[in-house]
Amino acid sequence: MYHHAVTDTVDTGELTRPGLREASWDSIRDIFAIAPNSIHLNTGTIGVMPYAVLDTVDRVTREWTGGLMDVYPPGMYPEHRATIARAYGVDQDEMSICHNATEGVARIIHGLDLHEGDEVITTTHECYSVLSNFNLLRNRHGITVKALTLPIGNDVTAEEVVALFEAAITSRTKVLAFAAITLFTGTKLPVRQLCDLAQRHGLITVVDGALVPGMLNADFRAMGMDFMACSGSKFQCGPLGTGLLYARNKVTEHNPLPLPTFWPIISTWYPMHGSPPPRSRTDVESDNLADYLQSAGSASIARGAALAKACEIWDEIGRARIEDRIMALAEYARGKLADRFGRDALYSPGTDPELRSPLIAFHPFRRSEDAWNVKKIHMYMKRLELEHRIWIRWTEFDVQDSPHQHYAARITTHIFNDHDEIDHAVDVMGRLGDEMS
Ligand SMILES: Cc1ncc(COP(=O)(O)O)c(C=O)c1O
Repeated sequence: MYHHAVTDTVDTGELTRPGLREASWDSIRDIFAIAPNSIHLNTGTIGVMPYAVLDTVDRVTREWTGGLMDVYPPGMYPEHRATIARAYGVDQDEMSICHNATEGVARIIHGLDLHEGDEVITTTHECYSVLSNFNLLRNRHGITVKALTLPIGNDVTAEEVVALFEAAITSRTKVLAFAAITLFTGTKLPVRQLCDLAQRHGLITVVDGALVPGMLNADFRAMGMDFMACSGSKFQCGPLGTGLLYARNKVTEHNPLPLPTFWPIISTWYPMHGSPPPRSRTDVESDNLADYLQSAGSASIARGAALAKACEIWDEIGRARIEDRIMALAEYARGKLADRFGRDALYSPGTDPELRSPLIAFHPFRRSEDAWNVKKIHMYMKRLELEHRIWIRWTEFDVQDSPHQHYAARITTHIFNDHDEIDHAVDVMGRLGDEMS
């Protein structure tokens, strides 16, 4: 059975009840509003809201409708930002709630103090939300964008990845920009090592952390970057249209470089006269940077409350426990996929544990040239969805030394998945891959 009916042993609406920390994964699954009789293996694109998060959207929307209320202070989300920041090891003055990772990363990229001739090193495996904004800066201000193609496959190592970035750095490089987990091949890049590299060269680090919240038990400060934009609606299972924007606002041993010049675009907080105070040189903030980013007119109060609710649920279940569960399911799925399709069919790293993530991309067909047949991979995904109610996605990416982009099938595991679902999905995906080969 891969659909669990909601049982009355689990209260799906109110999450202050005790026990979520000890609850079985079967009963935790029941707090999620999963479409019935379906297998959702696509959290890399969109997660599933817990019922309590849905209820929060509804309740808070109603509370703030129809009255003569001052909607501006709660739209700054001071407490929600504090709750969320705490969950990720940082402070409220560094955390703002934005609309998604795309918006967050755009606000970071356009807030950087980059000028003609400055160079940004990134990868061709970044989301278009990252590449399009750097390309815009290239056209607008004459910066150089150097996009590296990451190695792929089961046996890629963290050392290879770091060496690739290191070899690309020049005297003009100002920024390293990369995903914490890439969406195309599910490669978990060695963020701490890349930040160490950047710090050795005095570079600013911009991390696309769309997939981080809700997946990793992450301490943003210890990761060492200057900026990270995250999605709230993927692994964190908040409402669509939620994201987190982390901007380092103090100097600590995790990143001892001076705080970079940053222009908080889209802000009604920026002073009418003069400038904000000079940025801190210590571990005490000189100003609340996140307030500048948060202050941008009327905001959905419900959205912030619901994202904070999702974070509270995660804290209650336990973020280390969640990460362990997600990765245990991913390793199970990786093994099953390798058995069914062969290890060479895997685009995602597997040998180096540091690079593994719960996003696993693979080639589902027998003939290797089908890897650049976009119609076929699209049809494969559609048939899984329409004939089997299995939701995955296909991805496309550059491959070193290949004239073609490759198209892969990608699955993602989350805590609401289970072993039976993975068995069933791999079986169906294998049979369909054979049939279409
Ligand atoms: C790595 C990565 N970056 C950015 C995005 C864009 O995220 P959002 O929809 O929150 O803007 C995605 C979406 O899949 C992603 O996987």
